[in-house]
Amino acid sequence: MATLTILGIESSCDDSAAAVVRRTEGRATVLSSVVRGQTALHAQFGGVVPEIAARAHAEVLDHCVEAALGEAGLALSDLDGIAVTAGPGLIGGVLSGVMLAKGLSAATGLPLIGVNHLAGHALTPRLTDGFCFPYLMLLVSGGHCQFLVVEGEDRFRRLGGTIDDAPGEAFDKTARLLGLPQPGGPAVEIEARQGDADRIALPRPLLDRPGCDMSFSGLKTALLRARDAEMAAAGGLTRAARADLAAAFQKAVVEILREKTRRALALYLEMSPDRPAFAVAGGVAANGPIRAALTALCAEAGVEFAAPPLALCTDNAAMIAHAGLARLAAGEADGLDLSARPRWPL
Ligand code: KG4
Ligand code: ZN
Repeated sequence: MATLTILGIESSCDDSAAAVVRRTEGRATVLSSVVRGQTALHAQFGGVVPEIAARAHAEVLDHCVEAALGEAGLALSDLDGIAVTAGPGLIGGVLSGVMLAKGLSAATGLPLIGVNHLAGHALTPRLTDGFCFPYLMLLVSGGHCQFLVVEGEDRFRRLGGTIDDAPGEAFDKTARLLGLPQPGGPAVEIEARQGDADRIALPRPLLDRPGCDMSFSGLKTALLRARDAEMAAAGGLTRAARADLAAAFQKAVVEILREKTRRALALYLEMSPDRPAFAVAGGVAANGPIRAALTALCAEAGVEFAAPPLALCTDNAAMIAHAGLARLAAGEADGLDLSARPRWPL
């Protein structure tokens, strides 16, 4: 099989990224992966500001491409195609990437390949852990939370997901409520280590309902009420109360994800895969107690478990290049009329 080398471009949220991935004899290798985050630009606003994100992507994306080609030791003329996230995401950012990719494609004549950002995440365990179809995937980040059975390069079966907020968003909100820094996930995880997870009772929304759907917005509201009650009782938020609230919140998220993953695994195992496998990806997959709970669950069920390295778990362009390879190999490409899609369910 011929060698294929592809450039990937990602700009759907607050990371500008470019990467080069090569496939030889059916095996894909990341030659370079450059990610420029925007956390500092959005810090004072307490969340991602779409307008600022779009402007920043437009400013740095071409530098990311240059850096990715430089790290790989390649020129544009060494490539076989250009893959770009065409959605879902913040439309201004997605457009920045799509416009750049179209420009490069028009200038070089290389095929242009629009990639679904979620497919990029979902196919990553094939790149990092050599997973075979079908495998189960939990995508859990600041913007997403869903269970997918990945059946083929473009065949995904959604078993369930959040009906409101993503857990990462809830971690970030919890950090704000407790006066901890952003991004909130790592800060809450560290704070929780000092706390008693059982002193303050928080709900587990939808846990008593069948199926794999989840809800995290009620948990956020319950945390706000619990914090206010603690503050009213002590005349302010004590160090102990802050740690207990963080620990109680994290424990609730762990329990929701563990129980819903248990149900998703049961549905997936009914499909009798030859080599049952489960992967978790997205920023929240960095959380120690969540990883530990899912690892233990898979060990009990006799299912192979993988969590791709963090750099390929969070937003990056290597996953976009990798997802684009399959279409490139099949001789598929998009025209210069490729549109940016803010919503694009798998
Ligand atoms: O995948 P990601 O980098 O970006 C997208 O949302 O697409 O995920 C970022 C999210 C943030 O909400 C952040 O607070 C959360 O992942 N996160 C964590 C941890 N590290 C990052 N949540 C819980 N525990 C962590 N250690
Ligand atoms: Zn993502």
